[in-house]
Amino acid sequence: CGIIARVGTENAVPSLLKGLSNLEYRGYDSAGIALSNGHGIEVFKREGGIDRLVDHVTQLEPSTDVGIGHTRWSTHGPPTDVNAHPHTDCTGSLAVVHNGIIENHDALRSRLEAAGHEFRSDTDTEVVPHLIEEHLSTGRSTTEAFHAALAELSGSYAIAMIHEGETAIYAARNGSPMVLGIADGALFVASDVPAFLEFTDRVVYLEDGHAVRATPDGYTITEGDEVVHRPVRTVDWTAEAAEKGGYDHYMIKEIHEQPTAIRQILECHGSGELTDLDPGTLEGVEEVQFVACGTSYHAALYGSYVFAERGIPASTHLASEYATHERPVGEGMLVVAVTQSGETADTLAAIETAQRAGARTLAVTNVVGSSASRVCDDALYIRAGPEIGVAATKTFSSQVVALSLFADRLAGEDSPGGPVAFDSLPWGIQRILDTSRSRDVAERYRGRDAFFFIGRGVGYPVALEGALKFKEISYEHAEGFAAGELKHGPLALVTPASVVFAVFTGRDDEKLLGNVREAQTRGATVVAITDGTNEEVLRQADDVLFVPESEPAVAGLLANVQLQLISYHAAALLGRPIDKPRNLAKSVTVE
Ligand code: G6P
Repeated sequence: CGIIARVGTENAVPSLLKGLSNLEYRGYDSAGIALSNGHGIEVFKREGGIDRLVDHVTQLEPSTDVGIGHTRWSTHGPPTDVNAHPHTDCTGSLAVVHNGIIENHDALRSRLEAAGHEFRSDTDTEVVPHLIEEHLSTGRSTTEAFHAALAELSGSYAIAMIHEGETAIYAARNGSPMVLGIADGALFVASDVPAFLEFTDRVVYLEDGHAVRATPDGYTITEGDEVVHRPVRTVDWTAEAAEKGGYDHYMIKEIHEQPTAIRQILECHGSGELTDLDPGTLEGVEEVQFVACGTSYHAALYGSYVFAERGIPASTHLASEYATHERPVGEGMLVVAVTQSGETADTLAAIETAQRAGARTLAVTNVVGSSASRVCDDALYIRAGPEIGVAATKTFSSQVVALSLFADRLAGEDSPGGPVAFDSLPWGIQRILDTSRSRDVAERYRGRDAFFFIGRGVGYPVALEGALKFKEISYEHAEGFAAGELKHGPLALVTPASVVFAVFTGRDDEKLLGNVREAQTRGATVVAITDGTNEEVLRQADDVLFVPESEPAVAGLLANVQLQLISYHAAALLGRPIDKPRNLAKSVTVE
């Protein structure tokens, strides 16, 4: 979900609506805004994408100095107008938006209902305005009532509130991200910086336990009864970087940004310095455990192969499974959370599990100031720039490069294997972008029953990632397998209506060819992703997508770009909503 709030001297409505569309990637099954305009609180909310809300609000032309907005990804209650945020108290004198989960909402709701409060929605959020209303009714000031209500909540939240008759925003965070934006004549509160990037690049990151009151004259951050002073930072993301820049979709724009993204990280860290890190972070590290979800899990798995090559034991864990129980962690263990957003609840829970067991932790993330970067002992930034498309693309490549550079640094000069030579990677990706036949291939196999992706070594995580991308944006049946596993079960699914994408990296190609034949014998069509140097691969494959010649650790990343393009074109040909696939969100802040 996404939050935006604005208080200032001009009409807040256009920036609230703009902020919501900037945040749509955080969730988009319903949206709403609440305004305080001198006649009390007015709430506008709609099931569906932001466009429906914008149409509705634009016709009515409301105006206000202060308002809050929310785009929702359902956790409690279906996406309906009633369940959309903002939520109000009984009298409609205050409105609240919320990200996260109020764990004790059932108990609070029962108590409030018994005291005569009437609830309208199925959401956990609605207890918050009623709770504040209850505290206001005992004569407390708005600030006191807001704080008293927060003290009763357990769970995770970022909350913003407005109260009738006041030109002020009240906000607080505990376990969900929240950032303050300082513009000329206006203050913003949002769940993420792109929400207000058109209006300001000056930000203050709030910590868990912080509350803020913002008015046109300024803001005060408090923790309990204490006033806290936080540094104002300038973010170097431009508003244009967060927009589509002429492409039809963010996803294809972000696929094309990969050469630049890779150059950025190589410029920063290619010398092996890893300037982000405290020297102490690497001291005595003998073994690494990666925790991650989704695409980041695939990047971590790729990374673990590179670590192994450099003689560093590394294991990769799905964050949601890692957090199921405490793991034994020895002295030399570093737990590395790989997370683009730095806000994925499963990954944050895994970090907590690791820290409870006494492990040192490092975040590898794209978002400076994100929760993961703050809860971990240290953070390494992948510097890919904002990624808006729900399907992660450029951040996968940048994560793999970041992890490989990290492996180089950890391994030192005497270790086995040499550093991966990424210098030609930006050029290699650009070449694929300029020459790929992926659209024709997608067109040719449109309508097939199932799409399988197989590979060995780093080709395996690439196969998993290829299948994930394909299924999430095309909605077609796609599965990724370690090629050797095909014969241990998945082969039963292969028919003449199947297409198999085989990722050749130049290592174990002969074995992979054997797996290709197994699929072809059952009638499947095989598309090889290859550099074309192995003639046998060219003879055997039914179709080919070429990548420039490179060492295996780079070849996997190049093949991945071809697979990103295949998924994109397959989904585009089917007319899918590529940047906002159904049922998915960019940043999943619930476990
Ligand atoms: C969501 C997104 C995926 C992403 C995963 C992990 O499920 O839809 O694209 O890979 O979260 O996100 P993270 O921000 O932790 O990398």
